[in-house]
Amino acid sequence: MSRKTFRALTCLTAILTAASSEARSFTGHGRHLMQMAAPPVTASAVRSTAAPYLIDPWTVGMTYPEVNITAGQSVDFKWPGRHGVYMLMDDTCPDHFDTNGPNILSPIKVNGDYTTPPLSKGTYTYACQVPGHCEDGQIVQVNVL
Ligand SMILES: *[C@@H]1O[C@H](CO)[C@@H](O)[C@H](O)[C@H]1NC(C)=O
Repeated sequence: MSRKTFRALTCLTAILTAASSEARSFTGHGRHLMQMAAPPVTASAVRSTAAPYLIDPWTVGMTYPEVNITAGQSVDFKWPGRHGVYMLMDDTCPDHFDTNGPNILSPIKVNGDYTTPPLSKGTYTYACQVPGHCEDGQIVQVNVL
């Protein structure tokens, strides 16, 4: 076998190994979905077509339990009244919210609807940046598993 062929095969093996571990992790999700009586779903369908996780209404005076979603899924916030969507760096309400910058996902507006981009694995915490709203329960932790 030439050195070049060997290198190509080594590379291919690495790709196949990565693909099969990816497939294994999807199998886990598939099994979970089937337990919820959904029709069998293929791995790529889970990633590309999972509907956004809906948080409606996104408002004060609620308690939002932590949410688990799958990689590639997004979160859709819909609200009546005057609210916004702000990404926090940890799970506590800050003393003040920036008035511009990347953490403001949706500015404060009336009757809004904001959908995050598809999320990759990690933990995200969102709050409303209207003063007092975070402390009044408008904060949610999203785990992307
Ligand atoms: C989210 O997933 C974690 C880790 O698997 C689990 O411990 C927790 O109970 C789940 N929470 C919900 C609300 O499903």
